[in-house]
Amino acid sequence: MRILVINGPNINMLGIREPGIYGKNSYAELCSLISDYAAEKDAEVELFQSNHEGDIVDKIQKAYDNFDGIVINPAAYTHTSIAILDALKSVALPAVEVHISDVSSREDFRQISYAGMACEKAFIGLGFDGYLRAIDHLLSK
Ligand code: DQA
Repeated sequence: MRILVINGPNINMLGIREPGIYGKNSYAELCSLISDYAAEKDAEVELFQSNHEGDIVDKIQKAYDNFDGIVINPAAYTHTSIAILDALKSVALPAVEVHISDVSSREDFRQISYAGMACEKAFIGLGFDGYLRAIDHLLSK
């Protein structure tokens, strides 16, 4: 199975940004964790991070015919981006939403997830483990 893992803005700042919320581990460590896990499970994984909404839309569009599933943490774009929602709907690949922090217990403006409307499952507040559970979900299909 070919899985595309997309991370949105400021996820590259993991380890530096708000460690009390997002933890002390870096984006590079997150990538290693995901890559090692996927290798163990015999899944092909590509990791993509961008701070730019349009680049994320482009990447989702290019996933059509090239990947079997998407794991996405759109970060702040979760709560604002209809373009990312529409891109996910356009390619219609099985998609799983991940948030490192428990957005449900945070600010009101984090209570809406547009991307989540095109995702079949969400793993929220599990830290980095959420990405692995998302991969498990796609592999179980
Ligand atoms: C986040 C939660 C978002 O609200 C926030 O904007 C992020 C990270 C998370 O993984 O917990 O950048 O998606």
